[in-house]
Amino acid sequence: MASVPSLAATVRQRVVEALSAALPEAASADPLLRRSDRADFQANGMLALAKKLKGNPRELAAKVVERLPEEKENPVIAGIEVSGPGFLNITVADGAITRTLAARAADERLGVPHAERPGTTVIDYSQPNVAKEMHVGHLRSTVIGDAIVRILEHRGEKVIRRHHIGDWGTQFGMLIQYLIEHPHELDHAEDAPSAAGGESGEAAMSRLNRLYKQSRALFDSDEEFKRRARDRVVLLQSGDERTREMWRRIVDESMIYFHAVYDQLDVEVRDEDVVGESAYNDDLQQVVKDLESSGVAVRSEGALCVFFDDVKGPDGKPVPLIVQKSNGGFGYAATDLAAIRDRVGKLGADTLLYVVDARQALHFKMVFETARRAGWLSEGAARQLAFGTVLGKDGKPFKTREGETVRLVDLLGEAVERATAVVREKAEQGGLELTEEEIAERGAQVGIGAVKYADLSTSMSRDYVFDLDRMVSLNGDTSVYLQYAYARIQSILRKAGDARPVAHPELTLAPAERALGLHLDEFAETLAGVAETYEPHKLAAYLYQLASHYTTFYDQCPVLKAGDEATVENRLFLCDLTARTLHQGMALLGIRTPERL
Ligand code: ARG
Repeated sequence: MASVPSLAATVRQRVVEALSAALPEAASADPLLRRSDRADFQANGMLALAKKLKGNPRELAAKVVERLPEEKENPVIAGIEVSGPGFLNITVADGAITRTLAARAADERLGVPHAERPGTTVIDYSQPNVAKEMHVGHLRSTVIGDAIVRILEHRGEKVIRRHHIGDWGTQFGMLIQYLIEHPHELDHAEDAPSAAGGESGEAAMSRLNRLYKQSRALFDSDEEFKRRARDRVVLLQSGDERTREMWRRIVDESMIYFHAVYDQLDVEVRDEDVVGESAYNDDLQQVVKDLESSGVAVRSEGALCVFFDDVKGPDGKPVPLIVQKSNGGFGYAATDLAAIRDRVGKLGADTLLYVVDARQALHFKMVFETARRAGWLSEGAARQLAFGTVLGKDGKPFKTREGETVRLVDLLGEAVERATAVVREKAEQGGLELTEEEIAERGAQVGIGAVKYADLSTSMSRDYVFDLDRMVSLNGDTSVYLQYAYARIQSILRKAGDARPVAHPELTLAPAERALGLHLDEFAETLAGVAETYEPHKLAAYLYQLASHYTTFYDQCPVLKAGDEATVENRLFLCDLTARTLHQGMALLGIRTPERL
């Protein structure tokens, strides 16, 4: 089905037409139509326009009103008047609201159109490091990246996911050398493979931690081992088979752990999209060659560097991007440059997104600019979606009491535990009989939803405080509030018996119904904006407002006891469309909406 024009779009169109009929030179002027408290909409555009044309804004506004075409059947505009210095206050007809919503409800996409010209986006997100724990920074990248993937795919964009995991570099020499000298270090003990992915994930991580600690200790204390570890790096990079095999074991072990965390987070990460730093190893020589021959990079003290006029250290000396170290080694920058060539050249991306911590902003600025100078990337095609830091309640970067980074698994475990308690208590209060299994399932959906929502409802670039008490609260801007609103609607729909949700455009609407209806009508435009600016927090804000409008409606307008059949049906219709919109919106954020809570 084609997209459903919103009432705002229809009204704007009418005003534009009346404006150009009243004043031909104003044909392309924007009437600046907004939602308003005074009426449904207010158009302020006449003010600036009259000023520009040295006319009187009130007179111009009055002319626009005169030129509005008369609507005989199914009028959209029910009232329009000039107010203040020359605004137009516009009220839409109740029937127009209901008809538009009925058109949305009849469409399985709720009237949300596909992008007119979908492109190909490669998105780099959730990129933890092999043999290391996942921490809250990886939580942000995973949750934000997953939401953006969903939002873009929903628009019809071709999305290619890339998990640029840290699986390469000198520290692997140490790990592999140790593993070669202690071949049983990663062996799985007799601990029978448990059904719970979480447990085997934990076991994998603890084996890796042990390997890391022991090899590190040896590396720091034994010069001979240190030398062997360094030689091992060279063997790894040149593709020595035995070395590669050991490396593979370490990566695989990490993947077991990552997948356990992804399962807990309810995020899908596909193996074919895990293309780590190692995948670009064979392209690095070519990157160096091309940058050097084109003069984009120059040798400086043996290293291959790219310089920028506006990037200087505290001492005023330029800080270069180092593509190749003086010892011939490649680092993070070279890999990212090779990845850009792959993503643009081979994958055909026209947009590259990087969901990465804001603290890496300088790195990406230099990498993008280098790729642009080299002709591998067009201006503005790459963008870092830089996110802020997760803070503890003390306002400092989130750490344990001992000053260590907080393990993501511990954090998620606690969130689920708290949420489970909330679900249990609410069920008991509400007389909802849930089995232990159902409580556990819902506890996970609510707890993980709470963590995701807290992250996604803050604008990405801002830091936020990780406060579980607030996150699982039933009141306020939380996913739990939205999930309960959804479940409450489902319960009404179940209780409705024979009464069906049916739109009745002939009915007059109560103020709370109009407010809810007009907000529902904004879903498609909200989503389009969110997809264009990559701002999931605007979708979260929209959904929170939706639930709030619904709460007011629910308080003021009895549904099943509304009296006459048409009103019951129409209110059920509003309930149903609200539920579908909440469900769709939450799904785009990667958050579940249980049917019963
Ligand atoms: N592995 C890195 C980290 O944990 C993030 C990688 C970001 N992506 C990239 N293409 N550099 O900090």
